[in-house]
Amino acid sequence: MTRTIIHSQQADASDPPSSERRLIVTIDGPAGAGKSTVAKRLAQRLGYLYLETGALYRAVAWKVATSGVSPSDQQGVASLLPVTRITMEPGGVEARVLVDGKDVSGEIRAPEISRIASIVSAIPAVREWLLPLQRQLGSARGLVAEGRDLGTRIFPGADVKFFLEADVEVRTARRALELKAAGDAAVLEQTREAIRARDARDRSRDLAPLVPAPDASVIDTSALDADQVVDRMMAVIAKKL
Ligand code: DC
Repeated sequence: MTRTIIHSQQADASDPPSSERRLIVTIDGPAGAGKSTVAKRLAQRLGYLYLETGALYRAVAWKVATSGVSPSDQQGVASLLPVTRITMEPGGVEARVLVDGKDVSGEIRAPEISRIASIVSAIPAVREWLLPLQRQLGSARGLVAEGRDLGTRIFPGADVKFFLEADVEVRTARRALELKAAGDAAVLEQTREAIRARDARDRSRDLAPLVPAPDASVIDTSALDADQVVDRMMAVIAKKL
């Protein structure tokens, strides 16, 4: 299932009709907890749309980085938004993300963009700007959406909410593996520090901080592989189907 979403405010007339048992499932948690991997597999098993909201924040970060605006300049970042066009094609696998018509799907994965995304995501104007875009997708139902505030703020009425946690060492090792530098001590150290800094920022910001929704099922993925996490999620979801 693929839909093109063009930045905010534009309604998508192609939403599939909602059916009574198609759920909205949210998955929140810190970097490296395994959200993207399990969200993709879960969406595939259920035949649902997969929405990775971090890619939207990363797209804004890419625009900030290439515009020469300091990520901590809140007004400067806010002034970029009206002249930014983000297009995203969520689907079963990696979403294609375009900023102002340029495909940035690969570039937004760079560690520097992760850092900037975490900084700009604390800016109220950025969160406000991305909110209607995320909600618009949820209206379709049959959705697995992952990020930091999906269960608390974007879809507070979601049918099933998960919050993934994992030990910082496990998360560091997973990220290093993604960067194809698992055995490199310097990369491990840098990655660990970047994750810690991002965690601290994401959890302590005033607006929509990273916290489990009161009604979320919390899963510690430290000792689980992705399929084991998906199995646990399916057991929870099965009760709602
Ligand atoms: O999930 P990710 O690592 O790709 O997200 C990148 C940054 O975007 C993350 O450090 C915080 C921010 N983010 C957010 O604030 N809210 C979301 N729903 C998703 C991501």
